[in-house]
Amino acid sequence: MTKVITYGTFDLFHEGHYRLLQRAKALGDYLIVGVTTEAFDRTRGKLNVVDSLLTRIENVKKTGFVDEIVIEESIGQKVSDIKKYQVDIFTVGSDWIGQFDYLKEYCQVVYLERTKNISSTMLREQNRKIQRIGIIGTGRIAHRFVPEAKLVSGVNTQAVYNPHTESAVRFAEEWELDPYEKLEDFFAAVDSVYIASPHETHYDYIKAALEHDKHVLCEKPMALRKAQAEEVFRIAKGKNLILLEGIKTAYCPGFNQLLGITGSGMIGSIRNVEACFTKLESKDSRELTDLQYGGSFLELGSYCMLPVIKLFGGGYTDVRFDTIRGDNGLDIFTKASFIYPNGIATVTCGLGVKSEGRLLIAGTKGYMVAEAPWWKTAYFEVHHEDPGEVEKYSDRFLGDGLRYEISDFLSMINGNGRSDFKLTRSESVAFADVMERFLEENRSLAD
Ligand code: CTP
Repeated sequence: MTKVITYGTFDLFHEGHYRLLQRAKALGDYLIVGVTTEAFDRTRGKLNVVDSLLTRIENVKKTGFVDEIVIEESIGQKVSDIKKYQVDIFTVGSDWIGQFDYLKEYCQVVYLERTKNISSTMLREQNRKIQRIGIIGTGRIAHRFVPEAKLVSGVNTQAVYNPHTESAVRFAEEWELDPYEKLEDFFAAVDSVYIASPHETHYDYIKAALEHDKHVLCEKPMALRKAQAEEVFRIAKGKNLILLEGIKTAYCPGFNQLLGITGSGMIGSIRNVEACFTKLESKDSRELTDLQYGGSFLELGSYCMLPVIKLFGGGYTDVRFDTIRGDNGLDIFTKASFIYPNGIATVTCGLGVKSEGRLLIAGTKGYMVAEAPWWKTAYFEVHHEDPGEVEKYSDRFLGDGLRYEISDFLSMINGNGRSDFKLTRSESVAFADVMERFLEENRSLAD
């Protein structure tokens, strides 16, 4: 019996897939098909797969050509599958010519001619109109956004707005966008908006964008007052628009894997969370000179609160802030301590003091440590009472990591709202509430 194996994502199953499986089956007597997992596709840079793994498997089965299905989870799996299933022929479409020649050591390799003018990518793009995104603000993060957005199919960064026209024009030239000096014209040119302006302007821009029926992805901290966060979410909900806070860690694969493991009960009930993020800034930076809205907690607090609010929620009984101040009175190092009925948490942020940027989650059966920089969550360990019993996990964090939130933002806009759980509205409201408390204690809020 001749055994044949082939692999693919088989998203939005199309004629090209059908013809490939038909010819693959005809190469032998028994056809095995490896269907990729979402996690594996993400690591390969395919971020916008629409169909779930189960749907994709069902569609492959429905062709009637397949004798066995395996799940492809990692890059080295092909070799072990070929050995395990004693495969005679590996086959794949001609778009991969040469790339699997290394398998010739184990079996025959056949490249089948690819069907012309059809692909999942084409279908994904046909199914939805390209989202035209406009950026408000032209700072450091806005510069990172444009190249990251290029990696997400289905979005096109089109326009930029900055009330300082010169900055908008300079940014637009650098990234080949259209600059706008009037907000009205800017909104008319886009479908959705990425807000990367100074913190204190977020609320007004969000409201303006929602009023113009634009979806909004807003940099953290999205709001500095609880009531403002609630208000903008209410408006977004009423207008059926997506409003998402851009805390990149919330959308990255490693952090979501880590949360999944805490949810599995592997370390028991969570009792303590400690998250630290420090980034030394120069003394004349905006972060260390803006007396009203600079400082370490406003800059980095959102990241560190993320695991705390995710794991314990917003129902703390007390929160206190201890700060070390620079000469101008701004916090260069802040520790926020949260007390919960069944747990405690500390959030440590520094712009003028350096510390270890790790995340520690302690539970009744063990603990987890995500190594610095934990906010990229590329590597973490699970420890138990027996020091020899350590499980290690790693995941990819590609580039600047903004591609994950952009991709989730896009799928929510397109109605594949499966990512809402990654950062919920009530979690963003809880962050705004803590920010407000911090500002009340540490600065007089200007109205
Ligand atoms: N395939 C094909 N003809 C096409 C499209 C795909 O023969 N027009 C083959 C691929 O070469 C591969 C298999 O179908 O062997 C599964 O491919 P997959 O990557 O799932 O499909 P694509 O449509 O190429 O997906 P994408 O656009 O996301 O890359």
